[in-house]
Amino acid sequence: MEILTGNVNEEKHVPYIEELEDGYKVTIGKPAIHPMTEVHYIEFIELYVDGKLVDKKEFKPGDQPIAEFMVSKGSEVYARELCNVHGLWQGDFE
Ligand SMILES: [Fe+2]
Repeated sequence: MEILTGNVNEEKHVPYIEELEDGYKVTIGKPAIHPMTEVHYIEFIELYVDGKLVDKKEFKPGDQPIAEFMVSKGSEVYARELCNVHGLWQGDFE
């Protein structure tokens, strides 16, 4: 599956990553929270640290598309999410 990306400040599908004391918080998305309706929702969020998938959280309609991952910190961090309508998206921690 093609991995899509874009400007996190403009595109609501790009995962927005914030650092926590013990991990990272990922929100879909930053300009507006992505819908979570029966027909259009985020299926999962994955977190990758230093090139490895470290955790995955699954969602269903009605959930908030926000996840906190209590993981070891790394130097390269990105998240991916799957929208059931618009595909697979990646956002990097900056
Ligand atoms: Fe979508």
